[in-house]
Amino acid sequence: MTGLPCLDVDYCRRAFPPLENGWAYFENAGGSYVPRSVISRMTAFMNECQNQPDWPFESAQLAGERLETAQALMARTINAARDEIIIGPSTTLNVYVLAQALRPTFAAGDEIVVTNQDHEANSGAWRRLEEFGVVIREWRIDPQNGELDLADLQAMLTPRTRLVCFPHVSNVVGSINPVAEITARAHAVGARVCVDGVAYAAHAQIDVKALDVDFYLCSLYKLYGPHLALLYGKREAIAEARNQNHFFHDGNPPETLHPGGLNYEAVASLSGIVDYLDGVYAHHFTAPENDLFVRLGRVFQLFAAQEEACGGRLAAYLAGRSEIRLIGHMNGDRDSRMPTFSFVVAGQSSRAVAEALAQEKIAVGYGHFYGYRCVEALGLAPDDGVVRASLVHYNTLAEVERLIAALERIV
Ligand SMILES: Cc1ncc(COP(=O)(O)O)c(C=O)c1O
Repeated sequence: MTGLPCLDVDYCRRAFPPLENGWAYFENAGGSYVPRSVISRMTAFMNECQNQPDWPFESAQLAGERLETAQALMARTINAARDEIIIGPSTTLNVYVLAQALRPTFAAGDEIVVTNQDHEANSGAWRRLEEFGVVIREWRIDPQNGELDLADLQAMLTPRTRLVCFPHVSNVVGSINPVAEITARAHAVGARVCVDGVAYAAHAQIDVKALDVDFYLCSLYKLYGPHLALLYGKREAIAEARNQNHFFHDGNPPETLHPGGLNYEAVASLSGIVDYLDGVYAHHFTAPENDLFVRLGRVFQLFAAQEEACGGRLAAYLAGRSEIRLIGHMNGDRDSRMPTFSFVVAGQSSRAVAEALAQEKIAVGYGHFYGYRCVEALGLAPDDGVVRASLVHYNTLAEVERLIAALERIV
């Protein structure tokens, strides 16, 4: 990452109102904070054009333009075409709809690979297709470190495999799965992939074309936005899926995968995510760059360097403490993990650790985080599960030191 400026973290932090409250916020994998630009876009929509879009009166035209702009920006952000994305209420619901849409394309005996590393969102809806004769194969983690092994997947792929569902990054384990490679192996047997990028999106640029994925999932409230989720589907993959919308939308992809209307004010606010990221670009780079995707790529490189510095320090501490079991990779190296650190402390419940940290104004969660199967496979009781400290670019080294000092007292 040489040649790039250092991220001006203070500049970034000023954009997020809750970061002024004195807490060190490490629950970003549960939901990142939203910048003022998102809040003001949502407020502006509600103040100025909270009506059905596209009718021939002024505020309806304005609403239509804002909704279209926001969706086009989201598509560009991940290098997708506008007609390859839908913005739904949540990833869980997007997968549910997608599973219903693909179900009629599967025959009895067709196989779907799911993992026990996933959040249940990209798992349960596929497993339920077993009722219809689909055979479910489970790609299992190593019970020690939570990692998936490509060799295990390879042994599972057959000419009957139709779909491989897996996370880009697990929200419990934090390790980065090699999406392009897994996808190539699935494609080699004629299967499609559905990749959960929810725990990846806040940290690095997603390029769905370079990854060659068929379906990709991303919850926007973990990408500095409101509670909405993006579903990407490669054009030909969406075309295969059956219409889940009103009958008159049949043949009109991607609307086929989005029953019901948009959450207008929240969708309109998505432009504020790009306002924020582009503001970070303008603050750090003077060279003009016309392509939004390129600008965002540079911004995510700045984020990566900051996250790696802070995550590396935390990983070194967690991995070096014999009383602490860190899940996933033992370092904060960006090639292998995102700064989402799950751990357990010997002799202490995860709940007690989280509560003790809260006493010191340090915000972390505990439990299974809906990665129930993953936590169980790691040999832990899901309800108490793990303590999870997850960082994004606006976390500082000083906050990490605060967390480490507090953990030292607790351990
Ligand atoms: C990795 C991962 N996938 C999927 C989800 C589910 O997202 P949503 O709340 O949008 O359904 C989450 C939420 O925590 C997650 O962390």
